[in-house]
Amino acid sequence: MAFKDQEKIREKYPEWPQYDEEDIKAVSDVVKSGKWWIGAPAVHIGENGWKFQEEFGEMQESKYTFACTNGTHAIEIALSALDIGLGDEVICPVTSFVATASAIVATNAVPIFCDVHPETFNIDHRKIEELITERTKAIVPVHLGGMPCQMDEIVKIAEKHNLRVVEDSAHSHGSRFKGKRLGNWGDVGTFSMQASKVLTSGEGGCVICNDDDVADAIYSYLDAGRKPGEYFYDHYVYGSNYRIPELCAALLRTQLKKFPAQHKKRNENGPYLRDILDEIDGITCQKRSNDVDECGYYVFPVKFDPDKFGGITKKEFYQYLNDHGIPTDDDYPPMHQLGLFKNVKLKKGIDYSNANWGGLKSDDKFWPVAVDVFNHSFEFPQELLLGTKPQMDFIAETIRNLQKERL
Ligand SMILES: Cc1ncc(COP(=O)(O)O)c(C=O)c1O
Repeated sequence: MAFKDQEKIREKYPEWPQYDEEDIKAVSDVVKSGKWWIGAPAVHIGENGWKFQEEFGEMQESKYTFACTNGTHAIEIALSALDIGLGDEVICPVTSFVATASAIVATNAVPIFCDVHPETFNIDHRKIEELITERTKAIVPVHLGGMPCQMDEIVKIAEKHNLRVVEDSAHSHGSRFKGKRLGNWGDVGTFSMQASKVLTSGEGGCVICNDDDVADAIYSYLDAGRKPGEYFYDHYVYGSNYRIPELCAALLRTQLKKFPAQHKKRNENGPYLRDILDEIDGITCQKRSNDVDECGYYVFPVKFDPDKFGGITKKEFYQYLNDHGIPTDDDYPPMHQLGLFKNVKLKKGIDYSNANWGGLKSDDKFWPVAVDVFNHSFEFPQELLLGTKPQMDFIAETIRNLQKERL
């Protein structure tokens, strides 16, 4: 393809976030109303926070939905509501954004890292049981890029060992696995509405669950230990302030209206792009099994075999794609490599000596799959999947050209 056409395509790759007059009006209406605060049930102030909870809950098919400040806090709230705390071990994938593990640290528990699956890049459920000790209390699977973890198997393991499950669904708005929306497989599901996510208000989060007692605990924890229906200045248990700002809730409501069409488009382009890329020798896309009904597609991870591209490095791969107008994202480094875990720069007074990371235990050899995936993969951002079929074809064509040039 001629350079001029590439430029044209580059201009056309969609941007994120996307907004229109309806979003601007929703935010400006809140400003003009003077009701800038969602309040508590006893002092119901802004409407948007409460309505967004209903609307998002309806989409996610959960009995209870609580909007909150962000996706990191959503995990902290979930773990705290499930009574996970001091000295408890919580198993999570070694590959995720740091928030998955730092939220565990925030509750004074200890994250235990599990290697990932070579095809889905999600937590490898076959390796969870070997990490369970008498201190293990919960599993936090992460649906990377919205691609469902093997939740039926993970729930079986949790039931067998009496563990709680918090699904970090920060990437999984709208994902469905074996007929059930993600976030409803475990005890609690958590979402992020940070700026790059498929549903966003810049910052924001959500916690969903289906159990009455867990719902009560979640509400109290995120609203200063209050109880719904009770006196505003009575605080029954320890809690903090994780309430969503009303301005964010207003924006989330108008963004939510646009979500179904965007989600549909990503679920058309995602499998299409995977099929055309998987045909290229040396390229493997994240696996989407037949049990996946819908995928959030927050990111689209792609793994390459350097030998099939003349020994190319990840940086060179990125550079080539970017030079041809194709946006890319870096994927998450495995967390055992991060300074805070490697050098145990964590919380005062907590015993991390049983963790399977830190110092010599942070050696790459203990997480061979995650290290291989990180070294030989990149991601496309979700907004790329809002593009046209010719734009998807252009990605495959560009990678084929790269291969020809390198071999
Ligand atoms: C897997 C995962 N969990 C949790 C979070 C934290 O969400 P937030 O940035 O809204 O705090 C993120 C954010 O990118 C994430 O990717």
